[in-house]
Amino acid sequence: MLLTSLAFGLLPLLVKGTNVVLSNDDGWAEINIREFYYALTNAGDSVVLSAPAENESGTGSSDAPATPLTEPCEYNSCPTGSPAEGNNASMPRFNYVNSYPVTSIRYGIQTLSPKYFGGAPDIAVSGFNVGANLGTTVLISGTVGAATEASKEGIPGIAFSGTTGSQTAWDAPVQTYQTVYAGLSTNVTQTLVASGKPYLPSNIWLNVNFPAVRGSTCSSPKDFKFVLSRINTANGSTPPDVETCGSTRLPTETSVVDTAGCYASISVGVATTKADASAANQAVVLGKLKSILSCLA
Ligand SMILES: *[C@@H]1O[C@H](CO)[C@@H](O)[C@H](O)[C@H]1NC(C)=O
Ligand SMILES: *[C@@H]1O[C@H](CO)[C@@H](O)[C@H](O)[C@H]1NC(C)=O
Ligand SMILES: *[C@@H]1O[C@H](CO)[C@@H](O)[C@H](O)[C@H]1NC(C)=O
Ligand SMILES: *[C@@H]1O[C@H](CO)[C@@H](O)[C@H](O)[C@H]1NC(C)=O
Repeated sequence: MLLTSLAFGLLPLLVKGTNVVLSNDDGWAEINIREFYYALTNAGDSVVLSAPAENESGTGSSDAPATPLTEPCEYNSCPTGSPAEGNNASMPRFNYVNSYPVTSIRYGIQTLSPKYFGGAPDIAVSGFNVGANLGTTVLISGTVGAATEASKEGIPGIAFSGTTGSQTAWDAPVQTYQTVYAGLSTNVTQTLVASGKPYLPSNIWLNVNFPAVRGSTCSSPKDFKFVLSRINTANGSTPPDVETCGSTRLPTETSVVDTAGCYASISVGVATTKADASAANQAVVLGKLKSILSCLA
């Protein structure tokens, strides 16, 4: 009896949490990625951060072997002469890679994940980016580059971006927009994970954008609504989108984020092209995230 109750009592500890690789393009020492790390960890996930040593904003899907540092890491977070890859000695899950976002997330998936998780991660998330990544901007965003690289490698990838804020070092005081975006990013991640595997169809990634957090406007995660959107503006030859909110045409992510209120956009993309996914793949995501999706007012 004692053994049985002990075994049952210990069971929750043995249940495998979600293993997450986290990257971005603003760099490993940016405060946004650190706040996202803490929020995911507080939600029970096991997270390894693997992000560029420097600001690599706007580098899209560039990819090159990492090289030793010929200048300090951003915000002086590592000295000149540091190796091509390294970590924070007292927080070894915080890793830098002196190269592009794509190279960094691949190092997280292929090298760090086996070390920390004993295999591939369950999901890869990128961001949340400093500034929105809407419409054709996805083609140059390194944050999107990292998320799409994960999807190309068979790991479900999500890119998160927030309208408010400027690049800020990890050790600056935490601001409201950072905790709000970290909470929202964690909510989407956890909701997708709760929908069960496979989290996303193969070669599909999600592009999530948050509107501005200003003063008392949209100042708590519970103030926000998520809306399923499309990345690019449709034209006469664009096939119909999934039917939802009484239409077979989704709003663009730009129009969602620009609508008064606190609407965050979730678009479904094809990793290899960064274009909008088919209605069938949008429908899969609609089904998985329906508990948090709303219609635009
Ligand atoms: C980071 O890089 C982007 C793109 O080159 C640039 O616009 C931005 O000002 C840079 N940020 C910092 C803090 O240097
Ligand atoms: C490394 O981690 C320590 C302990 O958490 C922290 O005080 C320090 O600021 C961190 N530095 C970087 C660059 O992450
Ligand atoms: C996400 O946010 C919604 C709305 O605030 C909430 O009902 C739900 O419990 C949250 N889910 C997770 C997994 O945090
Ligand atoms: C129309 O939209 C499709 C995507 O739905 C795109 O591939 C095509 O380039 C667009 N055509 C024009 C003329 O913009």
